Parts: sequence; C-alpha cells; structure tokens
Amino acid sequence: MSEQGPFDTNVVTVTRFVMEEGRKAKGTGELTTLLNAVCTAVKAISCAVRKAGIAHLYGIAGSTNVTGDQVKKLDILSNDLVINMIKSSFTSCVLVSEENDKAIIIEPEMRGKYIVCFDPLDGSSNIDCLVSIGTIFAIYKRATDDGQPSEKDALQPGRNLVAAGYALYGSATMMVLSTGQGVNCFMLDPSIGEFILVDRDVKIKKRGKIYSLNEGYSKYFDPAVTEYLQKKKFPQDGTEPYNARYIGSMVADVHRTLMYGGIFLYPGNVKSPSGKLRLLYEGNPMAYIMEQAGGMASTGFETILDIQPDSIHQRSPVAMGSPEDVLEYIAICKKHAKK
Ligand code: F6P
Repeated sequence: MSEQGPFDTNVVTVTRFVMEEGRKAKGTGELTTLLNAVCTAVKAISCAVRKAGIAHLYGIAGSTNVTGDQVKKLDILSNDLVINMIKSSFTSCVLVSEENDKAIIIEPEMRGKYIVCFDPLDGSSNIDCLVSIGTIFAIYKRATDDGQPSEKDALQPGRNLVAAGYALYGSATMMVLSTGQGVNCFMLDPSIGEFILVDRDVKIKKRGKIYSLNEGYSKYFDPAVTEYLQKKKFPQDGTEPYNARYIGSMVADVHRTLMYGGIFLYPGNVKSPSGKLRLLYEGNPMAYIMEQAGGMASTGFETILDIQPDSIHQRSPVAMGSPEDVLEYIAICKKHAKK
C-alpha cells in the first residue's frame, strides 16, 4: 500500500514503461506508438472475450444476431481490431496475420517502418468453452527503404525482432512484453483500462517439473519424443517424475511454462513433420520471450530464432522453456538423428 492508502498514484503503465525504455535507447517514439496501438486492440479484444456470450460473438462468421445485424466471430473481430489499430498508428508497412492468406501491405500514406506478424486470437478451439486464449505479436523493422514493401519484408529470422509479446485472456488479462531488454508483465486493470507493471524482468527457472504437449498424438511421435517423455515419466536417476499440463492454447501453455518452468512441446510427427505451430506469429515471438527470460526455444535441432523463413505461414516444430529441459530434449533429438 502506498502513502495515499490503497491507491498507488504512481503506477507504471505499459505505455510509460515503453516510453522510458525508448527514451533510454534514444528512439523516435514510433515503436511506443505502435505498441500503444497493439495495447488498444488487446484491451478491446479482452473486453469482447469477456462478454462474448452475451454479445453473441460466438459462432459462425457472417451469421446474424437477433437484431438482424451481422455478427462477427470473436477471431474475425480480433483480427479487424489489430489491423485497424496498427494501420491507424502510421507505424507499419507490412502486416502478417494468421487470419489472412496474404500479407497486408499498408497504403503509402499510412506507412511506417515496422512489420508486424500476429495471431489475433490464438487457441481458437478453446474460445467456445471459456478456456484461456491469447493474442501473439512479433515486430520487425523493414530491412531496407528501397522499393515497395512486400510480403518478403516479413521473411526475417526471429533474431531480427525488435519487440514481441502476447496478451493472455485468462482469469485476468495480462500483457507479456519484451523490447529486447528482458521480459516484463503488465496486468490489465479494468477499472482504469490500463496495463500495470506487475512483474519486472521475469526469468524462467533453469529446470522445471512440468512437460506440456498433446500426448494424444503419441502414435505418430518421432522416437526421440517418445524417449524424452518416457524419461520424464519414469526417471531412472532417482528424481521424481514430471507433471503433465496441456491446455491446448499456446499462449496459456507458454505463459505457465514461463511462470513455473518446464518444457512446452509441439513437435513434428509422421503426419505433420513440421508440427502445427506457425513460425512467424507463434514460434518466433514466443521463442523471443523465452530467450529474453533466460530460457531456450528450439526445433530439437535448430534454434527457432535462427530459422530463415521462406513463407509467411510456414510451420515449425517447437520445444521451449527452461534451458536445462530444452537442452535435454535437444540431446535426445540429436542422438536419434545419428542412428
Ligand atoms: O495454433 C493454434 C493452437 O490452438 C495453439 O494455440 C495450441 O498450442 C495448438 O493449436 C493446439 O493444438 P492441438 O489441438 O493439436 O494440441
């Protein structure tokens, strides 16, 4: 409690925090403006998520509600919000969204230097049953000023990221953000509509006690994944077995991994060798957060942030979390590759 009683009159909002970071880095303020736009979209999505049922936002896109108005599904509404807020911030030139087949090239008069890749509402299979979902975003600078911006500008390795983060619509709404100087968590205070800094410079545990993946695909797993899981369930070194946790919503599974430690996996399998998760707006931003928090993110063979993408919706196997857990998984993958 502050001197003023229960009210803290000097809270650090996400905008204040990003402005301070930008000032230290002698930035132009364009990134702050962009992140502000992302925050506005996230607040509106959070509000829509919270009242989805009563506002009839569930269901099929294009259906009509009782008043005869067109109803947008929550994921389409979220996509429109992110696109419109970013566009109108005059800070970006190319947007890649999970919801759009092609990259969106911003009209010349509204362009800025940033490229944003995002999944407006990740974990869509969980929307209708009220399980946590999230928004993920990754921000790059355009590498050149030459010519028209195009989809190719978004094909940069995650190593080039300027900022990335996610919003988790869980029991509360939280924004987890990194601009390359560690990871900070901001909780949405609905009474003032601001994200307030609650966890500064978050670091992941060196090793956790939780593994997280969809074990329903066991039949199709590579032998390395099977061996790794066997080791976690029946350890031969006298340690206790790991706990299993899987929500099926990447933002929620990754956030738990960040908070409690352990490993989140979405490996490739015989049916889909690259797994399911998309590199540009799932793998990379989450890998960036993990690395910034002292964790690791790998395909099992290659560091996620070092992958050179060749298409905007490409998939990548994912293993991320506590460094010792991820290293153990990589060692097993490499051992099997030699066989
Ligand atoms: O890519 C969308 C997504 O919902 C992720 O958020 C989540 O990690 C994954 O799919 C779950 O996939 P599955 O149902 O195959 O376990």
